[in-house]
Amino acid sequence: MVTAAVLTTASSADLLTLSPARGLRGQVNIPGDKSISHRALMLGSIAEGETVIRGLLLGEDPRSTAACFRALGVEIPELNSECVRIRGVGLDGLQEPAEVLDAGNSGTTLRLMLGILAGQRGRFFAVTGDRSLRSRPMGRVVEPLRQMGASIWGRAGGTLAPLAVQGGSLKGIHYHSPVASAQVKSCLLLAGLLAEGTTQVTEPALSRDHSERMLRAFGAEIHVDTAAKTVAVVGGSRLVGQTVQVPGDISSAAFWLVAASIVPESELLLRDVGLNPTRTGVLQVLQEMGADISIENRREVAGEPLGDLRVRSARLRGCSIGGDLIPTLIDEIPVLAVAAAFAEGITVIRDAAELRVKESDRLAAMAQELSRMGAQVTEYPDGLEIRGGIPLQGTEVDSHADHRIAMSLMVAALAAQGSTTLRGADCARISYPDFLPTLQRLTASTS
Ligand code: S3P
Repeated sequence: MVTAAVLTTASSADLLTLSPARGLRGQVNIPGDKSISHRALMLGSIAEGETVIRGLLLGEDPRSTAACFRALGVEIPELNSECVRIRGVGLDGLQEPAEVLDAGNSGTTLRLMLGILAGQRGRFFAVTGDRSLRSRPMGRVVEPLRQMGASIWGRAGGTLAPLAVQGGSLKGIHYHSPVASAQVKSCLLLAGLLAEGTTQVTEPALSRDHSERMLRAFGAEIHVDTAAKTVAVVGGSRLVGQTVQVPGDISSAAFWLVAASIVPESELLLRDVGLNPTRTGVLQVLQEMGADISIENRREVAGEPLGDLRVRSARLRGCSIGGDLIPTLIDEIPVLAVAAAFAEGITVIRDAAELRVKESDRLAAMAQELSRMGAQVTEYPDGLEIRGGIPLQGTEVDSHADHRIAMSLMVAALAAQGSTTLRGADCARISYPDFLPTLQRLTASTS
């Protein structure tokens, strides 16, 4: 008989052994949304007056954002999830730091911050990140920022960090982004605040709109044309500090949605999950796969919709995922690949080449690790095809130093046969520091 999921002591620094679970039961307070946490820290820093942030994510990524803005002269107290108060320095109030700004593992920190720094006239900035971030494409923001008049230099013609920025005057442009990326859109909107005239961004498919919502709440003049997939910001709009209530991150909730679906005899209640329609593709797909998920207590808090999600075990079936849906579930594809491995039939994921330039090459990482566990996976340049329903076997797997791969593999281990050893599980702290203790709690009640 299988035992409940047990996390045995690591035999070396970052090795974790997981056993199959008999069921996951209980409630989870989902930690704060990562995208909204970054934006609240940044807008609070460049607004006038006080910003109060409740429910902030305490992961490594928001900590990187806070550290960068402290180095830029903003007084940000030690982060906590109850209440963080920031006294903003205004749009033009950032100081030239004496140190290199380090965004760590966080693409959102680096790309959004570049938009703010590019317009800080007369000040110089050097920015970098960890090994993963230094290999990720920065040309997608540097090129349009240069069109706005920004002076930015870096490796490989300014397409890779470390980067150097000489802040200066910017002018508004209308940019047609080749990728549906909220980081590109948000970077340009932030630069647009400091630019002369209007800055417009048109994207090929709608990406998450947290920046638009929060900028508007802080007083910026924002125009959204959803049909034309175009957003505009009017330069010179002042930002005024606000109270931000950060909803739970649906990207973090997704691990529990899949875990409870594929581990028999599970029932979880996930509390205060953000349900912004630009983020809920994972719910749509899991429901199409036959998952038993219901939304309770729907409400809206500080401009963002949220609710509680109840999920029970279900028999899943394969489906097709692609097109404009991809940006609405871009970070959930690794764990959806796990769901697909436990579903009857074939799941095809296409139009997801962006996954190759995330914290790791997530298509290659999931194809490799799920295959090691016995899944039948075909890798395409822009996706995966997974033949589900073949029992997965616990074995040794690797997180590729990517938080979402680590947590996806932990979910796979819960429903596999035999124990799984995961190398590099610790990186879950990037977006979900309490993931392991929560996993232990939810599985303990069924042991
Ligand atoms: C994010 C946007 C997405 C997402 C990332 C967070 C954001 O990246 O993958 O985890 O906060 O704007 P892209 O904009 O590169 O798609």
